[in-house]
Amino acid sequence: MMRQPFHAHRADLAALAAEDRRRTLVPRAGIDFASNDYLGLAGSAALRDALSQGIARGLPAGSGGSRLLRGNHAEHEALETHAARHYGSEAALFFPTGFAANAALFATLPQRGDLIVHDELIHASAHDGMKLGRADIRAAAHNDAQAFDDAVVAWRKAGGTGTPWIAVESLYSMDGDTAPLADLAIVAARHDAVLVVDEAHATGVFGPAGQGLAHGLASRERLITLHTCGKALGCEGALLCGPQIVRDFLVNRGRPFIFSTAPSPLMAWLVRQALEIVATEPERPARLHALVRHAEARLAALGLPASGSQILPVVIGDNARAMRVAGALQAAGFDVRGIRPPTVPQGTARLRIAITLNVAESDIDAMTGALADAMAAA
Ligand SMILES: Cc1ncc(COP(=O)(O)O)c(C=O)c1O
Repeated sequence: MMRQPFHAHRADLAALAAEDRRRTLVPRAGIDFASNDYLGLAGSAALRDALSQGIARGLPAGSGGSRLLRGNHAEHEALETHAARHYGSEAALFFPTGFAANAALFATLPQRGDLIVHDELIHASAHDGMKLGRADIRAAAHNDAQAFDDAVVAWRKAGGTGTPWIAVESLYSMDGDTAPLADLAIVAARHDAVLVVDEAHATGVFGPAGQGLAHGLASRERLITLHTCGKALGCEGALLCGPQIVRDFLVNRGRPFIFSTAPSPLMAWLVRQALEIVATEPERPARLHALVRHAEARLAALGLPASGSQILPVVIGDNARAMRVAGALQAAGFDVRGIRPPTVPQGTARLRIAITLNVAESDIDAMTGALADAMAAA
């Protein structure tokens, strides 16, 4: 018997719906407690002006090809030189998205015979890159530096002779907590490992001039950082920063870099201006941190814990209840999203409340008031 086309896909979506996990795209609405536009730059006059300047300078909207062919534009290289200086690395490479950067990094740099030990909560893009690569892979308990050490020791004992790679985020996107980077750097040094730090959510928000949380680490020769440009920087793309050999290798062997159209030169220009704004306007992160403290106080009054960052998860557990609470907040005019597995572990469905400069203290007061009502009713 012939099956209907997409039979398996329909069944899969039905199974997701039965678990309250089926997702749909909805237009953005309500006061922003959901975006990663932490510094309010995405729609800012400052970036709109910078875009106009770029257009006035005659920068093309499209690159017209991959970087290794006609797509390489002086603006890409100007951004990379600027980024390397800004983040204190020897070199930088610009990717169209953070997903592509992580996919390229993890698929390409660790070699056969190497070991990647990653935090169990690391982003999907790192997982996808690792799956394409040839290194052995182990997950370590979240934020447990000793677990990383133990994993490398066990692998060496079992005969592992390659390079260990330690892969973490500096600030976790669904939990808002930070990695023990100083301890992980010690583990990396002890084992001659490379430390990869995804700074997606810390870039622009933490560290001097928004350099991120890994900015103070020594041993730059064994450190790779990833700075996505679509979050606090208000643009899009990602800057992978590290030793020159890493850049050279990815340019030669990184398939997502090689076989993909280069980002818009206008975007490269815009990201460079965003880095400049972040470096010269420390009042932006200072205002954000003050707002976060305000939100933490309001949540504490509801008995909800702080995370120490602008990402404030309210763990609810049950998928359907999390979506009911999120729905009630949305109906009240607040864009708060429910996050379900597999984005977060089973049984930890949550609201992910993000504090950005797109809101005022009064918005936070109103949202937390509505949150109290929604939790009581759901
Ligand atoms: C930790 C982390 N890494 C990488 C990415 C991917 O970055 P991008 O959105 O630029 O593809 C994201 C965001 O979605 C992220 O949260």
